[in-house]
Amino acid sequence: MKILYTQHEIKEYAVEQKKAGKLIGLVPTMGALHEGHLTLMRKAREAADIVIASVFVNPVQFGPNEDFDAYPRQFEEDCAKLEAAGVDAVFHPEPKDMYPDGFCTYVNVEGDFTKKLCGGQRPGHFRGVATVVTKLINLARADKAFFGQKDAQQVCVIRRFVEDLAIPVEINMVPIVREDSGLARSSRNMYLSATEKEAALVLSRSLRTAEKAFNDGISDVSELKRIIVNTIKEEPMAVIDYAEIYSFPGLEEISKIEGEAIMAIAVKIGKTRLIDNIILNL
Ligand code: PAF
Repeated sequence: MKILYTQHEIKEYAVEQKKAGKLIGLVPTMGALHEGHLTLMRKAREAADIVIASVFVNPVQFGPNEDFDAYPRQFEEDCAKLEAAGVDAVFHPEPKDMYPDGFCTYVNVEGDFTKKLCGGQRPGHFRGVATVVTKLINLARADKAFFGQKDAQQVCVIRRFVEDLAIPVEINMVPIVREDSGLARSSRNMYLSATEKEAALVLSRSLRTAEKAFNDGISDVSELKRIIVNTIKEEPMAVIDYAEIYSFPGLEEISKIEGEAIMAIAVKIGKTRLIDNIILNL
């Protein structure tokens, strides 16, 4: 597996692959890789000739009081996992290489849907994500890019700017990978103590309880939200950031589930903010 450290190196590598007629699959990550990421790698492996992963903790998507400095960094372990998953090249730049002096261009998706859920809680977050993902797609000359459903709003934002700016890449969303307990895999699960990890099960439990109610015939959004909120409140360590149900992928307000919809939650367990979601389809 090749390790590419600079924009210059990845550009050269990608141009060479394109000249050889290869289809390039890109999996952008911030590292601290878990089974969720490795599922993305495997999907990319199936769908493309060359798989490029990026491992870059992107400073511009973190707010001033967020966990940029504390975010887990374990590049050697990540490389071993990427190599085992059959990745051809990993891009691991320094922030200074991605954002050199003079950098001043950002991709800002302005739709109302970007201000809801995590966009409402983390101003500037999606501007940082859209900027780095645009740059990674361009650098990797990606034909296809792969993202996890756990960050479903991120996928909505990426699909939007890819369409609006006519970027020639196919965006693939891969379902959430969960531990046997139901906990959605996340690099931030590493922050949880054993007790907190137990408490964190309330996230998936609340969504599954609402999903069951939906499958039993309840399609009223207030009723389903109440089920989610009441279940989360049963866990004393949990503090709700948001618990919402919107149409999917438009993220519009709805009062009844009539087509595709997303139940999305963000909950703090101790100092760790976790997100989870389930997409419902009538
Ligand atoms: O989902 C993530 O890990 C990040 O937001 C991404 C897409 C790698 C951009 O930094």
